[in-house]
Amino acid sequence: MDNILIVYYSLFKTTESLALEIAAQTGGDLRELVPEKRYSFDYNTAAKEVRNQISRGFCPKLISGNEPIDCYKTIFIGSPNWFKTIAPPVLSFLRYHDFTGKTIIPFCTHGGGGFGQIENDIAKECPKSRILPGIAVNGTVSPDEVKNWLKRIGY
Ligand SMILES: Cc1cc2nc3c(=O)[nH]c(=O)nc-3n(C[C@H](O)[C@H](O)[C@H](O)COP(=O)(O)O)c2cc1C
Repeated sequence: MDNILIVYYSLFKTTESLALEIAAQTGGDLRELVPEKRYSFDYNTAAKEVRNQISRGFCPKLISGNEPIDCYKTIFIGSPNWFKTIAPPVLSFLRYHDFTGKTIIPFCTHGGGGFGQIENDIAKECPKSRILPGIAVNGTVSPDEVKNWLKRIGY
């Protein structure tokens, strides 16, 4: 299938594994969002910074991942669940581009909270897109689970 982009942010690489699996199964292009200032791998330090950024709707500068998306018709957008919503680098990507007429498919990894508000928050930023049901994975991704979900949504 052509013109598919899988874009994601991942701190501890769990979301990256899911993104890799989706890319392998769809043949889409993979793109990692890299913020200028990396988040700490120490949970408490990261949590403090992230809470503050989310409360302000802060969009960090991306040093990679914000290249044009014109050639893509379908964009899978992935984030860890951070306090029930998307990680700030994903908000930067959503605010930077125009998704009019594109198909958007959210995915996330989480520690028990599922999507939280992630699907709603992505849909809110892409009001002129077709949004398909996403996948939320707690921990390790099962290729079969991804396969069944992709089949269900037509990919
Ligand atoms: C700052 C921070 C906030 C988090 N908030 C939540 C949350 O609200 N709900 C949840 O289920 N998991 C939460 N988690 C757990 C992550 O969503 C989970 O570990 C995820 O798979 C990490 O993805 P990554 O390895 O791609 O960074 C949080 C993790 C961090 C670091």
